[in-house]
Amino acid sequence: MDKTTQNVRQMYEQFPYPSGTPANRVGSDAELALSYIAEKRSSNKPLQVLDAGCGRGLGILGAATLQPDVQFHGIDLNRVALEDATASAKQRRLKNITFQECDLMTLEGLNVPDGGFDIIHSSGVLHHLSDPQSGLIRLRDTLADHGVINIMVYALYGRQPLLDVATAISLLFGDETPLAQRIPAARATALLARDHALCATPFENTFEVNDVEFVDRVLNVNETTYDIPMMWDLLEAAGLRFIRWIEPSDWAIDQLLPAGELLQRVSALPQKDQFRFIELLCHRPGFEMIIAKAGAQPSSLPLAEELENCRFRLHPEVVIGTEMRHSPAGLRTEALTFKLRLREPVPVPNGPFATLIMYLKDKPGILKGKALLRQLNKAGVSDADSKAVLLELCRQEVIFSVQ
Ligand SMILES: C[S@@+](CC[C@H](N)C(=O)[O-])C[C@H]1O[C@@H](n2cnc3c(N)ncnc32)[C@H](O)[C@@H]1O
Repeated sequence: MDKTTQNVRQMYEQFPYPSGTPANRVGSDAELALSYIAEKRSSNKPLQVLDAGCGRGLGILGAATLQPDVQFHGIDLNRVALEDATASAKQRRLKNITFQECDLMTLEGLNVPDGGFDIIHSSGVLHHLSDPQSGLIRLRDTLADHGVINIMVYALYGRQPLLDVATAISLLFGDETPLAQRIPAARATALLARDHALCATPFENTFEVNDVEFVDRVLNVNETTYDIPMMWDLLEAAGLRFIRWIEPSDWAIDQLLPAGELLQRVSALPQKDQFRFIELLCHRPGFEMIIAKAGAQPSSLPLAEELENCRFRLHPEVVIGTEMRHSPAGLRTEALTFKLRLREPVPVPNGPFATLIMYLKDKPGILKGKALLRQLNKAGVSDADSKAVLLELCRQEVIFSVQ
């Protein structure tokens, strides 16, 4: 194990990340992740998901609890965190999860399923590797051809204020000062920064977060931060390509800019430069994205004539909200909203879109396109309009088409 990796291990074993309890995380649904690319898998075997750098397993434990038919493998070099993750899996009686000590710089000893992993998650890990590019290439080599990687790495502009605080703290200590001894003065530094460098950033609260989070943010022994050109170079060098952002609206120029000359000019830029434009102005703290092998293609919406034969699922990150009121005639729906991921709820006016959302809200599992169209037909909606509504539900990510 190289020296940097040893230091990273020592830091995370002393401060095992993350604190908190297992939770389902945005982007952790396996079928949803696979639906983002056009490549289809040929087998019906259980999906195999690798969490590369799973830490205490909070993300993977939440995902495994909600997806009992999917097989999850968590790897990390932090033995303390892995022990904790294994105990949590046992306590939850999870049969679809395994944990293994493994260095992402070598992947030595990793059992790769036949044909590779269908999905690889790696959140907040790659930027701590001694050589992120070779780590990413190794991960790519374990990915199935139809597979996707859900990755989060630090973004330079959004994190610059935090990097400045970390640099200020580093002035205070020699290399030999143990991490734990740095914490009090480092917190006082972060308190000063709260009203200055960190003011109005997502990191304002740094002075008061718990020790694990604090060390991860401003006392980390090894991290790289990426801007868009660096990130795109990294993907290209690893034989991978960008497929989509986990939250596309953070990067959608037509949602961020009013119609007019500026939007026209930005739209004319290549995709990478559009994202660069947004990163320079909007300072996103991380790049959370779906990537795939260089030859893979993003999926597109089904064609109208295909809808009947498609199979859909309600998007697992959609929350449907209803306000009900009693009336002499019984319970009536006063207001309907849907909320996707961490966005604000969207009101849904009466009409076919609302009809379908009300139908969907109690339907877990697979929904046949034919059945959904029939619901709308029963409500008096024409064939053409029913298909348009179904496509709009896909476009707005209320439902997704299962492979
Ligand atoms: C910030 S934590 C993220 C943990 C987890 N992915 C999450 O989001 O909760 C970074 C993790 O990467 C792991 N890590 C860093 N370098 C690694 C390496 N070379 N091999 C395996 N794991 C590594 C650390 O031990 C730590 O658990």
